Amino acid sequence: MTTSRGPGHNSGQAGSHSQSEAAYLRAQRVVPGGSMRAASWFKPHPPYAARGEGCWLIDVDGRRMLDCANNFFSLIHGHAFPPVLDAIQNTMSKGTAFGLPTEAEILLAEALAARNPQLEQTRFCNSGTEAVLAAVKGARGLTSRERIAKFEGCYHGAYDWVEVSLDPSPANWNDADGNPASIAYNQGAPASVLTETVVLPFADAQRCADILRREGPTLAAIILDPHPSRAGAVPISSDVVEVIQAACRRDGIMLIVDEVISFRLSHAGASPVFKLKPDLVTTAKIIGGGLPIGAVSGSAERMSVFNHANGKPRVSTGGTFSANPLSMAAGLASLAHYDEAAVSRLNALGDELRAKTRAGLSASGVQAYLSGMGSLFRLHLGTKQVVDYRSAYADEQTAENLRSIHRGMLDEGIILTPNCSGALSTPMTAQEVDLLATTLVRVVARVVGTAAAR
Ligand SMILES: Cc1ncc(COP(=O)(O)O)c(C=O)c1O
Repeated sequence: MTTSRGPGHNSGQAGSHSQSEAAYLRAQRVVPGGSMRAASWFKPHPPYAARGEGCWLIDVDGRRMLDCANNFFSLIHGHAFPPVLDAIQNTMSKGTAFGLPTEAEILLAEALAARNPQLEQTRFCNSGTEAVLAAVKGARGLTSRERIAKFEGCYHGAYDWVEVSLDPSPANWNDADGNPASIAYNQGAPASVLTETVVLPFADAQRCADILRREGPTLAAIILDPHPSRAGAVPISSDVVEVIQAACRRDGIMLIVDEVISFRLSHAGASPVFKLKPDLVTTAKIIGGGLPIGAVSGSAERMSVFNHANGKPRVSTGGTFSANPLSMAAGLASLAHYDEAAVSRLNALGDELRAKTRAGLSASGVQAYLSGMGSLFRLHLGTKQVVDYRSAYADEQTAENLRSIHRGMLDEGIILTPNCSGALSTPMTAQEVDLLATTLVRVVARVVGTAAAR
């Protein structure tokens, strides 16, 4: 693996007349917006990927870039990790999917349960969105209630109920009582979505407690990502955790902990880190080793809501490619190599990245902050302390600066997500972390200016 080589400048950047531009022009004819995923699109167009090697991605123009987006944090071992490729190849040669169960699904469910007893039983599906959808349905089935609560600005997949108040602005984010308003994300979403989704403030324990005292008895579930990337990439406070757990106990609400990204924070996932006692846990991304996956897990008692063995299940889940053997085998290989030692090493590298970047920003008098935890990070501009979606909210000028930084990093050969967040992967070393930190400080200083220049 060639992890130590820096970004290559051996061919043209994704500019005019590049292969990427040609691909984008073709795509516009057959794909709305010229790209399959809004989240991975940015102006004028993204570079098109050709292949990956460890933490490096090579685009169709031959540019070699340090990949800190890792297909939205799903590739914990980077690209083309040999043990995952071997597992896929071995499995693939025997067939790719069957209308019968395979042993591979038992092995991956056992691997999750071995890491955290809270994941005693599991149902696999093909994405985090599907996992969240199943968990919400499960919670409704367990409680015979329809409404759910979620935290403002947090992403849980592309499903109308959990997309409520995903991107409110200062113009619409308060309701008449000063609580977070329920704002629809998609045009045409049923109006009932808004009354059926209660929005909670991520960093205000008192307000959460007040809202939950009023709404709690009607709620099937509270869905919570304890370290939500879209809402700032900051950890939930222990005060809010206490309020949530108390409301769940008092009113019989199911707590769904969405660990689709945050599972990577410890060997046992995110819930133990934040002392959360979930009824259901959703995972995806790294548990699939780079192949499509999602999972809903919980105690045998909670998961019995999906049990079909005695006739019609209380709540149905399923899917033609659910628990397909390729995703199972890739996930198993990926998790086996993300052992305690690998988790600790990667989390320590993340600490190093944040320390180096913060020191560099402060030494050059740049008003910016790198938030995050473990191997996850996100850049914020300005001096506001980031504690939730609202404090992380970028006004128009800030959003424009973040776009320029994202673009500037790409020009320097480093891929971040378009909102300037990222994740480390196990092929990275102190060398890549140093490259990332120094490049980030330089690009941010160039875009927003240093104290000396102000
Ligand atoms: C916390 C969280 N939940 C759910 C999802 C949806 O997962 P997927 O993209 O696999 O549908 C995501 C995706 O980024 C996520 O970050």
